[in-house]
Amino acid sequence: MRIKELLNSTPDDQEITIQGWIRTKRDSKNVVFCAISDGSCMENLQAVLDKEKINLGDTLSQLNTGAGVEVTGKLATSPGKNQQVELSVSKISIIGDAPGETYPLQKKRHSFEFLREIAHLRPRTNTFGAVARVRNTMSVAIHKFFQDRGFLYVHTPIITAVDAEGAGEMFQVTTLPIEEMIKNGDKIDYGDDFFGKRTYLAVTGQLEAEVYAMALRDVYTFGPTFRAENSNTTRHLAEFWMIEPEMAFCDINCNMDTAEAFLKYIIRYVLDNCAEDMEFFNSWIQKGVIENLEKVINSDFERITYTEAVDHILNAKVDFEFPVKWGSDLQSEHEKYLSEKVFDSPVIVTDYPRDIKAFYMKQNDDGRTVRAMDVLVPRLGEIIGGSERESDLTKLEHRMEEVGLNTEAYWWYLDLRRFGSVPHSGFGLGFARFLQYITGMQNIRDVIPFPRNVKMVDF
Ligand code: 4AD
Ligand code: MG
Repeated sequence: MRIKELLNSTPDDQEITIQGWIRTKRDSKNVVFCAISDGSCMENLQAVLDKEKINLGDTLSQLNTGAGVEVTGKLATSPGKNQQVELSVSKISIIGDAPGETYPLQKKRHSFEFLREIAHLRPRTNTFGAVARVRNTMSVAIHKFFQDRGFLYVHTPIITAVDAEGAGEMFQVTTLPIEEMIKNGDKIDYGDDFFGKRTYLAVTGQLEAEVYAMALRDVYTFGPTFRAENSNTTRHLAEFWMIEPEMAFCDINCNMDTAEAFLKYIIRYVLDNCAEDMEFFNSWIQKGVIENLEKVINSDFERITYTEAVDHILNAKVDFEFPVKWGSDLQSEHEKYLSEKVFDSPVIVTDYPRDIKAFYMKQNDDGRTVRAMDVLVPRLGEIIGGSERESDLTKLEHRMEEVGLNTEAYWWYLDLRRFGSVPHSGFGLGFARFLQYITGMQNIRDVIPFPRNVKMVDF
């Protein structure tokens, strides 16, 4: 039986067996109390071992934090004030010993920095268990949101030959024996590489999602993406999961409506289905996070243009690290200022200058902005980036040439504009950033099980 189930059961005379790991042990004269966790929920099950009833013998010295155990007993009403029920133990076996002197996770609170160095053990802490459960629930909610609305889940490739964001921040994929070739002074010819051309890990699944949207109408991806950005921040990973819906016959307003409904739905779902874990984040990680999330669900997201956003920033009585003028990209300090100070709610900023956005975005008639939309939230800044797509072949080709992309490599993408091109839109939500937002966790490296970053690839 799982501990989560037991904690919600009423005591009866049935003997039951559980398996889990000891979190803490308290040894008093006649009784030993062990808090057992099996990861099914935040709360531990208290196992009460009566030294007179069971002969613990050598086992007593092995009842250490971290030890794997199998425990049999009867569920009883607990006289303690911290729990409703406890397990009155008739038999306990150590399945996996964890010597107290060497086990790195002790009863005290460890810093997140330290825990990152033992990422293989950190799921055994309260915080990382809670993050893992919320992460799981969010994944379910994401599929549920789209499936309930008739979206198809499409799997886009991880290996690609095109730079879909045109930003050049890609990890190369190769099977060429580079070291040997350098030693021999050979010239690198990617024609000899595995795929016969230069290939990379995908930064997005968007272009392929567009292919499917042009046939199946509403689709979404949910998979890993990779960025070789040299950004050592609390909001950037080199490998992260992204959710990318793509919708045919949908303009930027329909895109914004979907993004707003989507974020609210996921938040509601997590609050309803992870109440215990969210209480933990609310008490220990970020005070007030639940109330803030409730507020987001009940608010209407502000919608402003980039030009209006820049005006707000220029009029701010704040010393920013980076200056802003029309045409420059918004930094996270500006994004946070808008969502925290100006609006105190999520903000959707639209119509960015075309020179700071990707080539595929629909060009506005003013000749200098595109139909982009970024969703900015307090504490984090951008969590969603999206746009209406350019559906006009000539304009798209022209823009690609302007930014120096080889249009021949994108022939299949351009075909979508040659045959049955219709207005369409989509966006990308960074899964880890959203999880950070929901849990209140400070560092993005602590919401993904195995963070990949500059000089960080252990585990
Ligand atoms: O704004 P981005 O680059 O947009 C795209 O990739 C589009 N193809 C999406 C689309 O329209 N289908 O990335 C989308 C989101 C960002 O808003 C951010 O939340 C997240 O992905 N993101 C990252 N998250 C963690 N680490 C990084 N290095 C990230 N880069 C982007
Ligand atoms: Mg972006």
